[in-house]
Amino acid sequence: MDIKTEIKRRRTFAIISHPDAGKTTLTEKLLLMGGAIQVAGAVKSNKIRKTATSDFLEIERQRGISVATSVMTLDYKGKRVNILDTPGHKDFAEDTYRTLTAVDSVVLVIDSVKGVEEQTRRLMEVCRMRAIPVMVFINKMDREGKDPFDLLSELEEELKIATCPFTWPIGEGSRFKGVYHLYRKDVRLYDPQKTLKSTELLNTKDLNNIELRRIVGQDLINKLKEDLELIPGLFESFNHSLYREAYLAPVFFGSALNSFGVPELFDSFIEIAPGPAALKTAERLVQPEEEKFSGFVFKIHANLDPNHRNRMAFLRISSGRFERNKIYYHCRLDKNMRFSAPATFMANNKSTIDEAYPGDVIGLYDNGNLKIGDALTEGEILTFKGIPNFAPEILKEVINADPMKAKQFEKGLSQLTDEGLAQLFVQEQGKRKIIGTVGELQFDVIQFRLEKEYGAKCRFQLLPYAKACWFGSDNRAQLEEFIKRKAAHIVFDKNNQAVFMAESDWMLNNSRETFPDIRFTMSSEFNI
Ligand code: G4P
Repeated sequence: MDIKTEIKRRRTFAIISHPDAGKTTLTEKLLLMGGAIQVAGAVKSNKIRKTATSDFLEIERQRGISVATSVMTLDYKGKRVNILDTPGHKDFAEDTYRTLTAVDSVVLVIDSVKGVEEQTRRLMEVCRMRAIPVMVFINKMDREGKDPFDLLSELEEELKIATCPFTWPIGEGSRFKGVYHLYRKDVRLYDPQKTLKSTELLNTKDLNNIELRRIVGQDLINKLKEDLELIPGLFESFNHSLYREAYLAPVFFGSALNSFGVPELFDSFIEIAPGPAALKTAERLVQPEEEKFSGFVFKIHANLDPNHRNRMAFLRISSGRFERNKIYYHCRLDKNMRFSAPATFMANNKSTIDEAYPGDVIGLYDNGNLKIGDALTEGEILTFKGIPNFAPEILKEVINADPMKAKQFEKGLSQLTDEGLAQLFVQEQGKRKIIGTVGELQFDVIQFRLEKEYGAKCRFQLLPYAKACWFGSDNRAQLEEFIKRKAAHIVFDKNNQAVFMAESDWMLNNSRETFPDIRFTMSSEFNI
């Protein structure tokens, strides 16, 4: 196949949700439909259970599984589908945000009982920021949930996106029988199957079909007919460009557990979800069809195997054809690199590949040359634009607890923060090292992994700071004055950008008033 055909058939996306909405279950059903796995239960949930805050074994289990499921590739109806996994746990939200730099669209899973939840809102904000097209799957319709009309208006209000239902549920809770497809104008009823692909019980366009009435009951048919009359007046009809520009979200109802409504979602996804898009770099727009290869690293997994200190960098191909053993240019280090064993992932199996195309994600073994955000090209310098680093909410000083292992401590901290696990800040005065995170869990992970993987010990000391934010100003005098006065509260991030640590919102506002020409931002400049 030529490169254009290969690009056209790629669909690279992430399934995102608030934990427990059904992301893992839905992923598994898609893999089943694509024949990538044969039985349900093959994809282990990669989430860290709520109770596991200090359960190190759980963290390790999670790491093992999340490597295996970082990207899942399958073929479905002639399309090459790459599903990028995102951790559900909110303490790892930044990892999810970075993964979103590598997808062309997302499927957002909503729990019909709970509706829009905290993580749903945050994830949507990131999608909006990057204009990522969103498709919504309203899951768990087999439970007594909210009314479909109410759910859609909640989505519109809370997520600030227009919705356009593609399917409509027939019944709900224990009487959920199937879905009506608003574009194909037919009914599909399924036989609930928890372990296998669903079996279709009935497919008809005739709402007066006798069999339909026998299975569903006249009352549900009447309700469906009423709903169908209301829908056109209440919701947008589908418009491809509005979807692609992320203003309009097609919505599907179903139950991932019972495989209801999943084929409708997957079939429409294949048809309308965008393939590899042009990507923004600081230099220019990179088109996938360009002859020359380029790609960027959006995720690193360090120390996959404790016996071999290797890491795996996940690279999204943005243009041209990637070839095994070919020499590529590492822009940040200004050096050439060759990869002899690039990996792809089919369900849980890793295998070496010879070539890959835009939209694909490959795993590159690396011993410390690659960092999140790095670009590989055929010689041109490109700087991909990503997701900013967000202001950490918990700040702790990290102290080396074993002076004999200072080197291992430094190396471990540097590598683990390269992986994007947490942000590392250094205070010039006294060289204190400060770890900033969005959740408590990362501190446990850092301590545990430092010891296990690097043989270093650390302890943390909570700092009296509530916010860390980046700052800058065109007013040099004011900037210098601010830096002089606040020196004890200023640290530097990994890119050497200055960060101000404020003890409270009040302190931050106070600084804003005293230094009106200084801009304080809750996110750093674009860095993948
Ligand atoms: P997540 O990855 O988004 O965190 O969610 P996951 O798929 O693990 O699903 C969370 C829980 O919701 C699981 O139950 C799962 O079985 C259930 N679930 C998923 N889809 C549906 C659905 O369509 N209907 C119903 N009723 N439940 C659904 P669990 O008890 O937490 O785990 P498990 O023991 O069943 O694995």
